[in-house]
Amino acid sequence: MDAASSQPDELATLEAEIDAAISGAADEAALDAVRVSALGKKGSVSEKMKTLGKMSPDERQVMGPALNGLKARVGDAIAARRDALAAEALTRRLEAERVDVTLAPPKSALVEGRVHPISQTMDELFAIFADLGFSVAEGPDIETDDLNFTKLNFPDGHPARDEHDTFFFPQREDGTRRLLRTHTSPVQIRTMLNQKPPIRIIAPGRTYRNDSDQTHTPMFHQVEGLVVDETAHVGHLKWVLREFCKAFFEVEDASMRFRASYFPFTEPSYEVDIRCRRTKDGIELGAGDDWLEILGSGMVHPNVLANCGIDPDKYQGFAWGMGIDRIAMLKYGMPDLRAFFDGDARWLSHYGFAAFDRPSLAGGLSK
Ligand code: DAH
Repeated sequence: MDAASSQPDELATLEAEIDAAISGAADEAALDAVRVSALGKKGSVSEKMKTLGKMSPDERQVMGPALNGLKARVGDAIAARRDALAAEALTRRLEAERVDVTLAPPKSALVEGRVHPISQTMDELFAIFADLGFSVAEGPDIETDDLNFTKLNFPDGHPARDEHDTFFFPQREDGTRRLLRTHTSPVQIRTMLNQKPPIRIIAPGRTYRNDSDQTHTPMFHQVEGLVVDETAHVGHLKWVLREFCKAFFEVEDASMRFRASYFPFTEPSYEVDIRCRRTKDGIELGAGDDWLEILGSGMVHPNVLANCGIDPDKYQGFAWGMGIDRIAMLKYGMPDLRAFFDGDARWLSHYGFAAFDRPSLAGGLSK
């Protein structure tokens, strides 16, 4: 076999080796090393080119184009591989530095969002009364006349019904009419109808009266409290309310005044005021010579117990109803109740609470 006929085989082998090295090059540096080893001054292809000068004209005529073809193909293959490596590198980088523009902004709602003072106050109520052994009961905003008034010992046509500025729904064919509950006291009735004593609940929620000024809104919030057992008495009522005020207002001693009052569903009845001082900036608690009413309370009327199937000769109870908005305004110094329900984000960012600041007796209610 003469030299000229063995050369093309040799070239084919060399080209296969170089192709394998090119596709095996994992990055630009490795690829460049392959380029140098093939096309560099001392590269395998360059060395072959140098042999052309020593060839006979016939051999050169065959080998010249063959070598030039090889050199061109190797150059093209390296360029193609370089493009492929660059594309792979770009894809990897785009994956690694991916930005999902649909994600929430880095300052998340948990950081920027605020808990409404009413929700905060309710959470504080839960923490305090859970510690005193109370559970939470709930009832609907739309009530029957029977549960909102009659079973609470409001006789038909009694003037106390009118004082509630009730929102009534139209009368039904059977003569009954629904209403938006005017207080949380119907939840007392619902609880006593469904539960045997001993009972110890609080019932927070929305209440409605047709009234609107700086300290009244047509929708507001109350929290009801009810204790029924065989021994409950006024001393327990006073103790519970005093403990509550100390914990809620975060004061050592809550100076309170129990004023005789009247509610159809309690006997005796008290309105409870706390001591305060009115300053030009607002209200200071626990000092001063002024009193501010925060709740109504009393011993559950025997008629009410009997209306719920509880024997008034065996059981007695005490109850109270408190304005949540009112105590929130007092504690946090918010002067206008109507702002509570305006939905103004600036107001909320000023008076609202951070989402992770959960009130607890151990960790602090409001800091
Ligand atoms: N329901 C009364 C009101 O809204 C407040 C109240 C007073 C609730 C005495 C009670 C209570 O449970 O015993 O005006």
